[in-house]
Amino acid sequence: MRRTALLPLLAPPLLASPTLNVLSQNVAGLPAFLNPNGEGDKTANSHELGRRFAQYNYDVIHVQEDFNYHAAIYESDGDAHPYRTATSGGAGIGSGLNTLARYPWVDFERVKWETCSEASGADCLTPKGYTRMRMRVEEGVYVDFYNLHADAGSEEKDVAARSANLQQVADAIGTDSVGNAVIVFGDTNARYTSSGESVRAFTQEQGMKDPWVDLVLGGEEPVQGTPARKCDSPTKNQTCEVVDKIFYRGSRTINLSATSWRYEDDRYLQDGKLLSDHNPIAANFTWERSESLRQSDLFGGPHGSWFNDLASLPTKATKPARISLRGEERVDSVGVTLSSGERFTHGGSGGKLDELQLEEDEFWTQATLCQGKKNDHNRIFYLRADTTAGRTVSAGEETDDCQSFEAAEGWQIVGFFGQDGEEVDQLGFIYGLQ
Ligand SMILES: *[C@@H]1O[C@H](CO)[C@@H](O)[C@H](O)[C@H]1NC(C)=O
Ligand SMILES: *[C@@H]1O[C@H](CO)[C@@H](O)[C@H](O)[C@H]1NC(C)=O
Ligand SMILES: *[C@@H]1O[C@H](CO)[C@@H](O)[C@H](O)[C@H]1NC(C)=O
Repeated sequence: MRRTALLPLLAPPLLASPTLNVLSQNVAGLPAFLNPNGEGDKTANSHELGRRFAQYNYDVIHVQEDFNYHAAIYESDGDAHPYRTATSGGAGIGSGLNTLARYPWVDFERVKWETCSEASGADCLTPKGYTRMRMRVEEGVYVDFYNLHADAGSEEKDVAARSANLQQVADAIGTDSVGNAVIVFGDTNARYTSSGESVRAFTQEQGMKDPWVDLVLGGEEPVQGTPARKCDSPTKNQTCEVVDKIFYRGSRTINLSATSWRYEDDRYLQDGKLLSDHNPIAANFTWERSESLRQSDLFGGPHGSWFNDLASLPTKATKPARISLRGEERVDSVGVTLSSGERFTHGGSGGKLDELQLEEDEFWTQATLCQGKKNDHNRIFYLRADTTAGRTVSAGEETDDCQSFEAAEGWQIVGFFGQDGEEVDQLGFIYGLQ
């Protein structure tokens, strides 16, 4: 199997930037006998929620508390969202977190909270936590989506557990999404106005923005310790505050901007009442590829630790002066030394080293990757680099499942992103201008 990817794409100019529309909805799906939250019959409401999910053209929906009425939601959503997570189970078994999307993803994980509190409610009864997926919006355009449901309650121990939960997600973004565009949305159970919450970890530590603060409040974040601005159910007031939040950031290859944020209550009414006990929140984004750095698709298996040279590539023009590959049966490591001095290496120290020193006017413009299975997981078995001077360097052994990558005219390969361990599990290329 041979496939070729040509990036950066020489796409015709678009009239408008592509958009990405998201919705966060806690669907109040605990069994009615445990928690009669919300109005009306839960099965009927869940069917209606699914119908509206399909009706309003969201690209990505995150639901929380999607426990015992999950099937009704998915059934009514129909084929509006072809990519959906499988439920992790009803109350007491699952996390209640699910994603309904128009785009596929290359990696998905469910992570449990390290801390939970029983001070009020039953947060330890059910394995709550967060989910992370790397969604492929277009060739070379990946956005990491995090859904979450933090500890509830207002006792001291609840607040401490919830703060630990939100910090856990922020820290995970720092590690597992380094260099990447990210959108986090879900039920934080926290308000800016309450004390002791770590709801600001996303903006303060991970370079993210809250579009509600930026677009609805004109940049004025509610002050901690001031009275809660609780929302009615339903609400028409866009400046009241709920515990459901959206945070986002772009990357050096993707300019992601929120264009609007709103309570979608008017779309989720039944006889004048909301279909859930949470106000649905939605945001619209536009995105654009950068003019100076781009990414290829990923190839290989989503195992090992995430790395992304985008986080450390210099801003000044640079080029690989040396390509260093290690391998034998498979690719052990990949590396480049840039003319500006930085050196990036990923993988382990096994295999034998092969290097290619590039001339000043010689650029790395083509690559071939092959994958195969090791311990039932896909890994990179082969990498060949081709330069504009017709020289090559390679590592590992070819398989019958390969893909070629080619920089467009005037571009070159300047770095890597992917996942590694002792060897290289997954690999993509970063393109820069020559
Ligand atoms: C909207 O909510 C905010 C915060 O609670 C409040 O200050 C404001 O008066 C409300 N606006 C209206 C029109 O009710
Ligand atoms: C990113 O997009 C926003 C909104 O379209 C625009 O104002 C901004 O200039 C863009 N930034 C870059 C670096 O392209
Ligand atoms: C997002 O865009 C769609 C399509 O234009 C629009 O119907 C929807 O109201 C917008 N959502 C928000 C949150 O502004």
